[in-house]
Amino acid sequence: PSIKLVSLMVLASLATGQAWSQTALMKQAQGLFKPIPANAPPLAGNAATPAKVELGKMLYFEPRLSESHAISCNSCHMVGMGGVDLQETSLGHRWQHGGRNAPTVYNAVFDVAQFWDGRAKDLEQQAGGPLVNPVEMDTTEAHVVEQLKGIPGYAAVFAKAYPAVPDPITFDNVRKAIALFEATLTTPNAPFDRYLKGDEKALDANQQEGLALFINKGCAACHNGINVGGGMYAPFGVVERPGADILPPGDKGRFAVTKTVSDEYVFRVPSLRNIALTAPYFHTGKVWDLRQAVAIMGSSQLGAKLSDEEVGKIEVFLGALTGDQPKVALPILPPSVATTPRPKP
Ligand code: HEM
Ligand code: HEM
Repeated sequence: PSIKLVSLMVLASLATGQAWSQTALMKQAQGLFKPIPANAPPLAGNAATPAKVELGKMLYFEPRLSESHAISCNSCHMVGMGGVDLQETSLGHRWQHGGRNAPTVYNAVFDVAQFWDGRAKDLEQQAGGPLVNPVEMDTTEAHVVEQLKGIPGYAAVFAKAYPAVPDPITFDNVRKAIALFEATLTTPNAPFDRYLKGDEKALDANQQEGLALFINKGCAACHNGINVGGGMYAPFGVVERPGADILPPGDKGRFAVTKTVSDEYVFRVPSLRNIALTAPYFHTGKVWDLRQAVAIMGSSQLGAKLSDEEVGKIEVFLGALTGDQPKVALPILPPSVATTPRPKP
């Protein structure tokens, strides 16, 4: 065969080789990860109706659920800003800082359990926590009910959400409705989701190389499934414990829940969905640069010194995890009247 033909054949086989490895990467990825579904997933024992979701949305934005009437769920998990507050640790009641970074509420419905240490089993159980947490909203279960009953407009909204229930304004229904609203805060259609559904071109060459590194270096051993994380627990510092600035000795993570020594410094592996939007990183919020977070993970979890180029490629892959952000119309909340319980400073 002529030189020209040989080089054509080589080119053709190179092209097929590349196509083959691209398909292999996609197959491997499809085995490890799942796309985010288009619609909100159902919650066990908490059937959604439009009226319940609407009530949940109102309560999510309702500052009068806090003792000060200054803080709502949205103060720390801002819709329109990745579902986070962009603080190292959140500012809560009386300007107090909590002990941990606020994770995003987006896609939280897909996680195995809630909080950095998994102490709440689902969104419903979680939603009760911040309301009564003294450094967050600092109210009590009884006061939440009293407050809502003291705002006359809520009677009709609860009645619509819970028809045929004689006294629907209960703490339990507050939690259930908020959880249903949160389940709608998902971010489908990221470039990575389109790739997982078979669109090879949804990720560019750098992002595909980043994905290959993410799998082959071992990140996907922990960060996998629908949320690219959120499915299991792992020690922070499997191979090398990060410094006390990033992992202070006081917060032993899951140990506080299980009281088991092997759970010291174990945390829920966080989801990496929308990670480009949710700095600062880690449960302490001490790392503001995603590249630095990736490099720390390499050394702490895998004992691998990633090169700048590798870190850069993984970072561009992580950028492909940003999906369609929820568009939420701000609810109109019913007005207070003269007898409505007032804020406590
Ligand atoms: C954790 C929702 C109010 C700060 C969470 C999580 C959810 C959530 C779903 C778990 C996310 C995950 O583990 O991935 C809510 C709702 C609220 C609310 C529904 C209103 C009722 C607040 C407020 C603050 C706050 C007002 C700040 C003052 C935090 C922090 C965490 C967290 C720091 C992590 C705590 C830990 O892991 O120990 N929230 N949140 N949240 N939220 Fe909220
Ligand atoms: C946290 C990426 C490997 C377990 C994180 C965060 C990023 C990340 C960006 C911060 C998330 C946030 O703050 O919201 C990576 C990359 C990896 C990798 C790129 C590979 C180079 C691993 C492995 C494990 C793991 C192999 C399990 C052995 C965790 C845990 C956290 C975390 C437990 C939470 C740490 C804390 O703040 O307490 N990862 N990860 N990661 N990752 Fe990884």
